[in-house]
Amino acid sequence: MIEETQKDALIAAARGAAQHSYSPYSNYSVGSALLFDDGTVVTGTNVENASYGLTLCAETLAVSKAMAAGKRGGLIGVAVTGPLGEGATPPITPCGRCRQVLNELAALGGTDPIILCVGAGENGAQDVREATLSALLPHAFGPDHLSA
Ligand code: THU
Repeated sequence: MIEETQKDALIAAARGAAQHSYSPYSNYSVGSALLFDDGTVVTGTNVENASYGLTLCAETLAVSKAMAAGKRGGLIGVAVTGPLGEGATPPITPCGRCRQVLNELAALGGTDPIILCVGAGENGAQDVREATLSALLPHAFGPDHLSA
């Protein structure tokens, strides 16, 4: 279980990361923050490329940073934020590739993290939708399939 204050902090961390978004082509800045069971938070943002298809999503970058720092499981929460103000959209959900990338890290520790999908509601105020990773990526293919 993640406390409400932890959720707020995770969303704030994702928003902070999005300030460094490199998204000159889409103008769609994304932030992500991963929460681990030891309290560690690792952030990421989207990094686009003039060769558009090489763009790295915020969540994939955060998972890469976490794994490069030695994390192998313990993932209990993820916040993903879309743009604020003008250009804001309904809550952003991780793209298919990011769901699979998140699943690898989660599966290593046997957790099912809560994903906080953050955007704007009709009145422009922050809107948060919550879903477990297993709900976003049912019947996932993961490391267990290759270790039989
Ligand atoms: N994007 C992310 O960073 N994460 C997602 O889960 C969906 C999309 C980024 C990629 C691109 O820079 C921009 O959003 C528009 O697609």
